[in-house]
Amino acid sequence: MDGFMKGFVKIFTYGCQMNDLDTQKMYSELSKIGFDKTAETQLADIIILNTCSVRQKAYEKAMSNLGRLMTYKKRNPSLIIAMTGCVAQQEGHGIRERMPHVDMILGTHQLHRLPELLNKRARDIAPIIETDFTACIPSMDIIPELKFTEHPHRAYINIMQGCENFCSYCIVPFVRGSEISRDCGKVLAEVREHASRGVKEVFLLGQNVNSYKGGMSFPDLLRNINSVEGIERIRFTTSHPKDMSDDLIACFQSLEKLCSHIHLPFQSGSDAVLQAMNRHYTRQSYLALTEKLRTARPDISLSADVIVGFPGETNEAYIETLDVIRAVKFDVLYSFKYSERPGTRAAKLRDDVRPDEKLERLKRLQALQRAITIENNRDRIGKTYAVLVDGVSSRHANQIHGRTTQNTIVNFDGDISLLGKIVRVKIKRANPNSLTGEMI
Ligand code: SAH
Ligand code: SF4
Ligand code: F3S
Repeated sequence: MDGFMKGFVKIFTYGCQMNDLDTQKMYSELSKIGFDKTAETQLADIIILNTCSVRQKAYEKAMSNLGRLMTYKKRNPSLIIAMTGCVAQQEGHGIRERMPHVDMILGTHQLHRLPELLNKRARDIAPIIETDFTACIPSMDIIPELKFTEHPHRAYINIMQGCENFCSYCIVPFVRGSEISRDCGKVLAEVREHASRGVKEVFLLGQNVNSYKGGMSFPDLLRNINSVEGIERIRFTTSHPKDMSDDLIACFQSLEKLCSHIHLPFQSGSDAVLQAMNRHYTRQSYLALTEKLRTARPDISLSADVIVGFPGETNEAYIETLDVIRAVKFDVLYSFKYSERPGTRAAKLRDDVRPDEKLERLKRLQALQRAITIENNRDRIGKTYAVLVDGVSSRHANQIHGRTTQNTIVNFDGDISLLGKIVRVKIKRANPNSLTGEMI
């Protein structure tokens, strides 16, 4: 790369952990060509919006934030404004028609070209719009420098991107493309590199990790990572219930580094709705799966995603969703109102649950889940957990926090020297979304 001018870059990130990781990678790559990360938007020479399109609200947020950046551009005409992520992929050229102040639009397979394209932009101010899908995704191989990661002892690692499940409501297959697995040799080399940097926990990312095909099966990949010295915890997301193999479940029995937590979205408790969502499992098979997981790893914690108000969701179907929540007792549940996405199969269905009814269903569901979470947390009082310390409290000096292998946040007295260490904490109090304890 030729020498580039020096400057500051600010990235706004929306959406999932994939986008968080992509942001770390962009900061890291841009630092190599002379751009330092800044928290101050006014200081930035480059502003990037790394966007999400999974629901209409996320899409609108991306567009309105882009609109707001116009004032910065007026003040500083040499400012470069770029959009990346799923909205950039979805809209491409369409964005510039509405927002001519955007200089660069980079799709989800084009991220690795950011430095090269900035260089091009420095010589020629013509707008750059690159949204082609490619046969491989080179940005999966970028390893961000430690200083750009949020937690220096936890590393997020791409193992695959894209999705071919085409759940009828979901835009992800359209904006991330077909499923592409990263070569297992590269994944394992990255894990080893993180271990040598002092990382304790690796978090494997993919839209549907269970169908990983990077030269070995996903369970084999987990087994290989389990034997990497220095790595103490392994997490992954997301799993699709239809592809949860017995081999993967067995990993929860045999791999001591695999954390006692799985995120297993169920989306709905009604078979009719699940079928209309194209999810390929039933309420019964989902419940059976959670049982199997609990047999393999009795202390396993479950989290999930659920959608209310999918087209045709009757009140009875909604009650079935509440029943699943009561039966499984998730620790964390991410719940959403159905949002129609362009191009999806569900967009052809009539969005027939009234907005006020959707909101009502969501609120009742969230109240139920709140009660379950606190009940689960109360059951943990008096027990002792291994906690990986990942931060210092912003409110109480001398208080630190970390996560159990179940992924529950625990606050306790301690000092910054414990950062990145695994300590034992006895739980004294249950809070709505965390625990408070004492180090022993
Ligand atoms: N690959 C992951 C994540 C997909 S997006 C998975 O399959 O679980 C994260 C969550 O957003 C989904 O699980 C779903 O609950 C929700 N979601 C996706 N599309 C949506 C839509 N159109 N309306 C509302 N919620 C949606
Ligand atoms: Fe979307 Fe379904 Fe793929 Fe998840 S599995 S990304 S919900 S299409
Ligand atoms: Fe959003 Fe794209 Fe992730 S749509 S949820 S940022 S894959």
